[in-house]
Amino acid sequence: MFDLNLSNLTPFLPEDWLSSRAGALEQARTMLEEGNGPGGDFTGWVHLPRDYDKEEFARIQAAAGRIRQDSQALVVIGIGGSYLGARAVVETLHSPSFNLTKKDGPAIYFAGCGLSSDALAEVIGQVKDVDFSVNVISKSGTTTEPAVAFRIFKALLEEKYGKEGARRRIYATTDAKRGALKGLADGEGYEEFVVPDAVGGRYSVLTAVGLLPIACAGIDIAALMDGAAAAMEELSKPGLDNPAWRYAAARHGLYCSGKKVELLACYEPAFRFFAEWWKQLYGESEGKENKGILPASVEFTADLHSMGQYIQQGERMIFETVVRFAHSLEEIKIPNDPENVDGLNFLSGKPLSFVAEKAFQGVVLAHVDGGVPNILLSVDRRDARTLGALIYFFEYACGLSGYLLGVNPFDQPGVEAYKNNMYALLGKPGYEARKKELEERLG
Ligand code: PA5
Repeated sequence: MFDLNLSNLTPFLPEDWLSSRAGALEQARTMLEEGNGPGGDFTGWVHLPRDYDKEEFARIQAAAGRIRQDSQALVVIGIGGSYLGARAVVETLHSPSFNLTKKDGPAIYFAGCGLSSDALAEVIGQVKDVDFSVNVISKSGTTTEPAVAFRIFKALLEEKYGKEGARRRIYATTDAKRGALKGLADGEGYEEFVVPDAVGGRYSVLTAVGLLPIACAGIDIAALMDGAAAAMEELSKPGLDNPAWRYAAARHGLYCSGKKVELLACYEPAFRFFAEWWKQLYGESEGKENKGILPASVEFTADLHSMGQYIQQGERMIFETVVRFAHSLEEIKIPNDPENVDGLNFLSGKPLSFVAEKAFQGVVLAHVDGGVPNILLSVDRRDARTLGALIYFFEYACGLSGYLLGVNPFDQPGVEAYKNNMYALLGKPGYEARKKELEERLG
């Protein structure tokens, strides 16, 4: 389904970059497969494509079918790992303009992924006069951004449909046992889906967290799971030809040689949110204990006209991972122009994808010549099965990478710092002393 090409790393890595990591990779693989390494309680995603709850999966499909029939819009409320995966898949397989181009089913709006009143008002404006449903997603059930947004949309639904009508239009995805959202959903009688205990937010796209919104967008979630299962099968095999081993080892080798920033590049604008999902996955998994590659992303060729200068000649701390889809979904040919004022007739009749391919080849050569190692990931096609495999590939390689780096890839202690300050400054009960201290500092 995809091919990992590391040939452009040769000038940048010592000869034994892979073999010297064989032992550590085998150890990392065992920790992932057996769940006995740091954060092992959160490796439920490793065998998920095979062991997922089939009864719940059927309920997800049924709920999506209902939403597609009775709603012109679905508001998906969540943040971080409870948001990015669904948006990544919907946009990559459809389009960032999905709501304008969709042919059937509801428009999909994302809310609760920030605290902007203007962004929220825009979503309210889009849905208030049409039939809509809400999927509220929060594993902890206590995250401020989605909790606040949910209050607002719950009130809107209740005003529009009454309490009972609203109840039938709210779908809650949360912990099986704990949390404020769980209590609320139980109390109100919403249809509930589970974020499994052993799956952390950023690894949860293939659970109900991602699957319900993705299915509502008309995407074949069985094919998505099937692709992930095929990747799971392949990547669980030990060996230096395992693409996840190779990607993890290459990243670690580059990091050790001073390449501290990884740019995920793609030539498809539809891939933008996949890159956002990938940034959370790698950033939260590796960025701790004052270590970790900084994950960043660029969209080519657009960013070649902005970030291109830095990439070519700025500080030499960057490497690129370029995701290339082999086939365009639509082919557009460049027309002939008898006047040829723009001098482009040498391209007449050629598909745009031919121009993109040559741009890609030229960019790789230029960037490698400029001191930027390039990892190339060629992907067969932009479909659900392939994307499922790609998601699993990046997740598995991320687990391996974290263990190679010597960190727990499944915790995120650093995200609590801002939350505690925010709670204190907002006057949340229990944070009085911190509030006083922070307000003194703020002056
Ligand atoms: O990966 C993570 O754990 C985070 O990004 C969470 O997914 C995010 O903070 C949202 O948390 P919750 O689902 O508990 O609302």
